Amino acid sequence: MALESSRLAFERARRSVGGGVGSGLRAAMRPHPLFVREARGAHVWDLDGDRYVDYVMAWGPLVLGHGDPRVLSAVAEVAKRMQVVGTGHALEYLAAEAVLEAVPHGERLLWSNTGTEAVQVALRLARAATGRRRVLKFAKSYHGWHDTVHAGMSEEDGDRPAEPGGRGQSPSVLDDLVIGRFNDVPLTERLLGEHDLAAVLVDPVMSNAGVEAPDPAFLATLRNLCDRHGVVLVYDEVITGFRIARGGAAEKYGVRPDLSVFGKAMAGGFTQSAVVGRAELVDQVTAGVVHAGTFNANPIALAAVEATMRILADATVYEALEKTSAEFEALVGGALGPGSGSFNRVGSLLQYVPAGGATGLHGTGGLWTVILEGMLRQGFLFLPSGKVFLSTAHTTADTEATAEALEKLLR
Ligand SMILES: Cc1ncc(COP(=O)(O)O)c(C=O)c1O
Repeated sequence: MALESSRLAFERARRSVGGGVGSGLRAAMRPHPLFVREARGAHVWDLDGDRYVDYVMAWGPLVLGHGDPRVLSAVAEVAKRMQVVGTGHALEYLAAEAVLEAVPHGERLLWSNTGTEAVQVALRLARAATGRRRVLKFAKSYHGWHDTVHAGMSEEDGDRPAEPGGRGQSPSVLDDLVIGRFNDVPLTERLLGEHDLAAVLVDPVMSNAGVEAPDPAFLATLRNLCDRHGVVLVYDEVITGFRIARGGAAEKYGVRPDLSVFGKAMAGGFTQSAVVGRAELVDQVTAGVVHAGTFNANPIALAAVEATMRILADATVYEALEKTSAEFEALVGGALGPGSGSFNRVGSLLQYVPAGGATGLHGTGGLWTVILEGMLRQGFLFLPSGKVFLSTAHTTADTEATAEALEKLLR
């Protein structure tokens, strides 16, 4: 893989685009971001025409791989008739009905565009319902880049006053944020007793921090404590939703939140997110809670949502994903060899965890940096954090080739 065209493209992009890539986290790619000309199924092609097996999958949305023809034809059909209309259209409720059918606690939803936005909407609903302002989140979990939740981003931040996750963020909003520790039941009990909370916001599998599954007691404890203290339980299912199971973490672990936030996989590669949950919470938008957005529920994205939901309603999709993911864990995980770390896995979401080390949102460092760059040069595109997203388009042949290349690299 030459990578030369991507290096030159990155140099050029930096002269017109701040940081040279559309999202800050992408700048952590090594040796530099790959510039893609075409993407199909489980593969991307760079500007030189070299092909890569893609384990980035756009950072989560592409459960069906790139360019699923069923999603594309639904989008093309609608795009000819309308693009954005700023008033009601039938796909608003057709797509909503399809989403609600998949989500165990789905009574009503609100459309928005990104996960970051939808998290803010969910917290606003919780504050309006409880008349309280504080929110409990867990150290290291990422809930979007907004000032109110992009804080407490390191392991040590649990049970400490929240620190902004980056420069330029307002510290004053962090008075509303309480930081717990994932899977720490005693600390969670204490924090819920000490603070008058509006919401507990949890990514049920720490999908940006090691893909750590919840202890069986943890989610049940959150549910019980929220009921006892009158707190709204919000699952951030932006990554887990429609990926670890059709009904996300609520289905997989059998504990239902009051609200869930979905994004990424919901729209099969197009831009749409939603807050889904109890009708009495969501319906507050008719009683003074502001929820707005020019591009909310745009027909193009909702055609993609409806088509994606229809495809994901087939249980064999998740059986196939599970088979591919278990194969990846066994073969590629096996190729790491002793002492070189391992992959944590929940469904088709995996993350490399160094031996005795921790993962990082911006990059996991250590041996992973060597793997990241060495595998890219052999035609395999991974994420700097060591996260791996699989899709129905990945095959056993892709996995075998990946394991072989990794073994060669580490030897
Ligand atoms: C768990 C989680 N929540 C929220 C977000 C924010 O979503 P978006 O990037 O669409 O704003 C992300 C993005 O990666 C995420 O992983």
